[in-house]
Amino acid sequence: MSDALRIEPFGGDRAIALAPALAGIDSALIAELGTAYSHVPWRVEEFVKPLPGKWQHSFVAVDGAQPAGFWIAWARGADIHTSRVALIAGARGQGVGRRLFDAVLAAARQSHARRITLTVSTPNVVAQRFYAGLAFHRMRGACLDSFVRETGRQGRVDDDEIEEVIGGTRVRYTAWAFDVEG
Ligand SMILES: CC(C)(COP(=O)(O)OP(=O)(O)OC[C@H]1O[C@@H](n2cnc3c(N)ncnc32)[C@H](O)[C@@H]1OP(=O)(O)O)[C@@H](O)C(=O)NCCC(=O)NCCS
Repeated sequence: MSDALRIEPFGGDRAIALAPALAGIDSALIAELGTAYSHVPWRVEEFVKPLPGKWQHSFVAVDGAQPAGFWIAWARGADIHTSRVALIAGARGQGVGRRLFDAVLAAARQSHARRITLTVSTPNVVAQRFYAGLAFHRMRGACLDSFVRETGRQGRVDDDEIEEVIGGTRVRYTAWAFDVEG
């Protein structure tokens, strides 16, 4: 990774221009990590799909002209919910994920959000260590019950994890939150 790596907002014409490269990173991640990364591949359509607050709370890491990763998030009620986080293999372990998070956190503070939330596939232990290292906390018990209820997810809570059936396969997620003003 070069010293020229920048964190940029992801939105507008820039989002449209970068989306094919981000979809390429996403499909490489599915090939590398499989369902531990995601059960649903993202194409250009998902990257550019407008959602409330998405262009204010989503960021890309760009190395020269090439995207190296992304943190896509949007405003769901009082929370900023993360839909997708990934870096190309050569950009990991150098603080780039933390820099993306710092940009999302600054945007979340600016919009007076309550929390930054996300879910991670249970087998993705590396990502869970990453979020714990950023001071996210695992949602459990009543907090996890109300998260599932508020978000209208189809899954059920079992043993402090969310269990869902996607395409006939039973999958499990842990849910995490970062208290913005905490
Ligand atoms: C998860 C991911 C985004 C982390 O980004 P990263 O740039 O590698 O992480 P950073 O270098 O910014 O590390 C930040 C902190 O996370 C933790 N961390 C990161 N990688 C870790 C690992 N492999 N093992 C343990 N802790 C780790 C550390 O606590 C680190 O703290 P430090 O800054 O005090 O050293 C990146 O590894 C990735 O893209 N993985 C593949 C895709 C994926 O799993 N996405 C998440 C799907 S929910």
